[in-house]
Amino acid sequence: MEFKKIGVLGTGQMGAGICQVAAAAGCEVLMADLNIDIVKKALGGIEKRLGKAVAKGRMEQAAVDKIMANLHPVEGIADFKDVDIAIEAATENIDLKLKLFKGLDEAIKPEAILASNTSSISITLMAAATSRPDKVVGMHFMNPVPVMKLVEMIPGLQTDDAVFEDVVKLAQTWGKTTTVSKDFPGFIVNRLLIPYLNEACFAHTEGLGTIEDIDTSIKLGLNNPMGPFALADLIGLDTVLAIANVLHDGLGDPKYRPSPMLIKYVEAGWLGRKTGRGFLQY
Ligand SMILES: NC(=O)c1ccc[n+]([C@@H]2O[C@H](COP(=O)([O-])OP(=O)(O)OC[C@H]3O[C@@H](n4cnc5c(N)ncnc54)[C@H](O)[C@@H]3O)[C@@H](O)[C@H]2O)c1
Repeated sequence: MEFKKIGVLGTGQMGAGICQVAAAAGCEVLMADLNIDIVKKALGGIEKRLGKAVAKGRMEQAAVDKIMANLHPVEGIADFKDVDIAIEAATENIDLKLKLFKGLDEAIKPEAILASNTSSISITLMAAATSRPDKVVGMHFMNPVPVMKLVEMIPGLQTDDAVFEDVVKLAQTWGKTTTVSKDFPGFIVNRLLIPYLNEACFAHTEGLGTIEDIDTSIKLGLNNPMGPFALADLIGLDTVLAIANVLHDGLGDPKYRPSPMLIKYVEAGWLGRKTGRGFLQY
C-alpha cells in the first residue's frame, strides 16, 4: 500500500513530531487537534525548531521549506476523508481514544489504515471500536520523534498481517528502526520504563535522596542522558501517570501502583516541561 497522504490527530509534542517526520519523508500531512489554534501553534513550533537547525548549519533552508509545504493545518477530522492512514496522537486516555477512533473510522475512506501512538492502551480494544479492526495498528513513536530512532510496532489481535507489514515499512521509510511488541499493557518500552520512573518517586518519598541527587546519580552512574525525574518531565507527568494506571489496571499487580507523589504533581497541574514545571522547574 502507498501512503501519500497522512492525517495526524493530536498535535501536541508527539503529534507535531510525527507530522514533521512524515512531511520530511515527502508525505502530505493533514494536522488536526481540538481546534485550529492548537494546530497553528504546533506548526509554529515545528518551524521554530527547524529554523534552529538551519541556524546551526544542520539543515538547508530549502529542506525546511519543503517540509513546511507538506504540512496542512485543518479544522477537524472531516478533512481526513482521503488520507491513506490516520495516526492518533491525542492525550493518553482510554475513553478519549475510543471516542476519537470511532470518529476517525467514520471520517476516513474504508480502505485507509488507523494507527495510534498510544504509550500503553490496548490496540485490540481500540480496533474493536471501529468497523475495520483488521486495519488498526499501534505505532509507538519515541520522544522527541524527529530525534529518536525507534518506533515500537504493535499489532492488535485482529490486525491483518499484510496491513501490519505495510505500516512497519512505512515507519522504516520514515527513517525509523522498528521493533514488534505484543499488545500487552505498556508494550515493551513502557513496561520497563514506567516502573523505573515510578520507583524513583517512591525512593524520593522515602527520603533516599533529593530529586537532584537521584537524577545525577542515574545520569552519571549509569551514563544515561538524563535522570528519571528529568525524563518524566520530558514525557509529561500526566502521560506517565496514565501509563502507570494502565499497567496497574491491566496487569493487576500492586507493584505497578502509581506513587502518591506522581499523583500529587499531576493534581497540581505540574506536568513537566510542557507546563514549565514538573519535578523540576523550566
Ligand atoms: N510524551 C511522550 O514521551 C510520549 C511518547 C510516546 C507516546 N506518547 C503518546 O502520545 C500521545 C500524545 O502524547 P503527548 O506527549 O504528545 O501529549 P500532549 O499533551 O503534548 O498532546 C496531546 C494533544 O492531544 C490533543 N487532544 C486532546 N483531546 C483531543 C481531542 N478530543 N481531539 C483532538 N485532539 C485532542 C491536545 O490538545 C494536545 O495537543 C499519548 O497517547 C501518549 O501516551 C507520548
